[in-house]
Amino acid sequence: MTYSQINHAKAWGFSRRSLNLNHFGQGHEMLNVLSLFDGISCGQVALKRAGIKVNKYYASEINEDSIFIAQKNFPNTIHLGDVRNIRTSELPKIDLLIGGSPCQDLSGAKIDGKGLEGEKSRLFYEFVRILKELNPKWFLLENVIMKKKWQDIITNLLGVEPIEINSALISAQNRRRLYWTNIPNIKKLTDKGIKIKDIIFDDNYKVFSDERIENTKVATKNYLKWDLSGKGYWSQQDRGYYKNGKLPTLPRANPTNKLNIVLGNGKYRRLHPIEAERAQTLPDNYTEGLSDAKRIAVIGDGWTVDIISHILSHIPLAEQQEGGAIPPKDKSLGILPKIL
Ligand SMILES: C[S@@+](CC[C@H](N)C(=O)[O-])C[C@H]1O[C@@H](n2cnc3c(N)ncnc32)[C@H](O)[C@@H]1O
Repeated sequence: MTYSQINHAKAWGFSRRSLNLNHFGQGHEMLNVLSLFDGISCGQVALKRAGIKVNKYYASEINEDSIFIAQKNFPNTIHLGDVRNIRTSELPKIDLLIGGSPCQDLSGAKIDGKGLEGEKSRLFYEFVRILKELNPKWFLLENVIMKKKWQDIITNLLGVEPIEINSALISAQNRRRLYWTNIPNIKKLTDKGIKIKDIIFDDNYKVFSDERIENTKVATKNYLKWDLSGKGYWSQQDRGYYKNGKLPTLPRANPTNKLNIVLGNGKYRRLHPIEAERAQTLPDNYTEGLSDAKRIAVIGDGWTVDIISHILSHIPLAEQQEGGAIPPKDKSLGILPKIL
């Protein structure tokens, strides 16, 4: 068994997959999917992993590196370019609309950011526009933990409460995220107890040591921190994570020097791109073909595949043909469990 197979079996077991194949594997329920902000198309990996058959997969994305990786892994992807230019009248009936709209103005790092009024994060309204125009049976929107004010706006516009899930339950990465979906009855995940030591690919990757680290290091519960400047600037990138713990949320900006693993005996090393893929439960080498820095950047922007696959695996086939995603005006879709 390969790492991904073992990890996948460990994460979900095969029974859930078989169940889904009973629903979707008979060839008569092929979904048309539109993925906005598709990135490296983690959505397609998740659909495949959930055993959901796809007829046409349309993707809106503008980042060339991400499009390159999506096309490399899924050459049949129909890329549509900038979300703002999508004309829904030119698309066939879409069954499933998915997307993780840009979070730069919303994320905790920018707590005073412009939120949904920011240049990037306001693209969320394109998701709403397209949802209303297409009225697909199912939708899923992912985003970061944000100020209640912005969260409530999204909730009101989509008509469903978000579910909070931490990827740490099924991977070696802490990644708290909100998921708004009308897919019902999503089951609670159990903690698989996966740690950094379970996703190691290469312990010789970019090993380093530094006297300044040894002179200033302080142990905390989740990581060692140090002060390279000696002036009391405890930078977030000056941390080393223990193999017996979890990685922090993979970052997008300047990612190569932010993720260090403690080797012991005064030695540390950087996170290998394959380990970043494993932290997002992507297949090994999924992003091969880009530089290491670009790989970690697009992975950090992506989804934890097994979380998405878990959510999508709850799409009930029997209701596939009935109605659309937008609730009737006076009827809410119901409140989903808040934290899974
Ligand atoms: C948070 S990431 C989503 C990544 C994706 N879920 C994945 O699986 O990799 C947001 C994505 O939106 C893309 N994006 C930004 N502006 C866009 C636009 N105007 N049209 C389409 N995509 C855009 C970014 O390039 C980025 O890949």
